[in-house]
Amino acid sequence: MVEAVSKPPLVALKEVDFAWHAKANFTISSGSLCVEEHEHVFIRGASGSGKSTLLNIIGGIVTPQKGQVDIVGQDFCQLKELERDRVRADHIGFIFQQFNLIPYLSILENVTLPCRFSKLRRENAIKRSGSVTEEAVYLLSRLYSEGQFSFHRSTSELSVGQQQRVAAARALIGQPQLIIADEPTSSLDYDAREAFMALLFDEIKLSGSTLIYVSHDPTHQHLFDRVADMSVINPQNEPDL
Ligand SMILES: Nc1ncnc2c1ncn2[C@@H]1O[C@H](COP(=O)(O)OP(=O)(O)OP(=O)(O)O)[C@@H](O)[C@H]1O
Ligand SMILES: [Mg+2]
Repeated sequence: MVEAVSKPPLVALKEVDFAWHAKANFTISSGSLCVEEHEHVFIRGASGSGKSTLLNIIGGIVTPQKGQVDIVGQDFCQLKELERDRVRADHIGFIFQQFNLIPYLSILENVTLPCRFSKLRRENAIKRSGSVTEEAVYLLSRLYSEGQFSFHRSTSELSVGQQQRVAAARALIGQPQLIIADEPTSSLDYDAREAFMALLFDEIKLSGSTLIYVSHDPTHQHLFDRVADMSVINPQNEPDL
């Protein structure tokens, strides 16, 4: 009889210790989180409880002082910076809380940027839409209901809510295996928020992507497979109130 071989989780944080600096009040100690491939996890926690810090660790933006951070089968802590950049570019779409758009590039150039850094994502985008630009236009069109909106405009001219949607399209382009979203709808009105959630779930269903999503807003919690609380992920932290 052949035994089923269980796949390792796509994201596994084990015994992670992290401090932003030596005198930091906030720390993560023995932090742990396991997310299976294709799973959609909603992370909640008070402001200051470390949600963005956790996402930065998962995304390889910062490295913990101790512990193991397995992402897509590799331990981020053991990789050199260039190797981490490669894993991130190929496999992770990140919607940051501050968006991190490049102000001197247009909307389209910002959205297509991940495909300049990753051949894998470029090929995925071309397979779907014929070209990277067409794929970007498709994603953006799902997010903007405003007529006559030129995607050639510079992102520095955009409202915060408009910028947030550019960041969302940039994270989704090329169907990365892991989507990390930090408060992705915080600046959106009702219609834009619903359009974003519809696109996000259409895209992850199509690509089978794993989703780690942080939000204060419990409205869409029911769409997720599981809710994880920061007090469980990092039990020793008492957030400042
Ligand atoms: N770049 C940084 N340098 C130093 N300390 C930081 C940095 N970013 C966050 N912190 C600190 O880490 C702690 C956790 O912050 P974090 O941004 O992860 O919380 P959060 O749960 O995402 O909060 P919010 O819901 O307000 O976004 C806070 O005490 C914060 O001051
Ligand atoms: Mg945050």
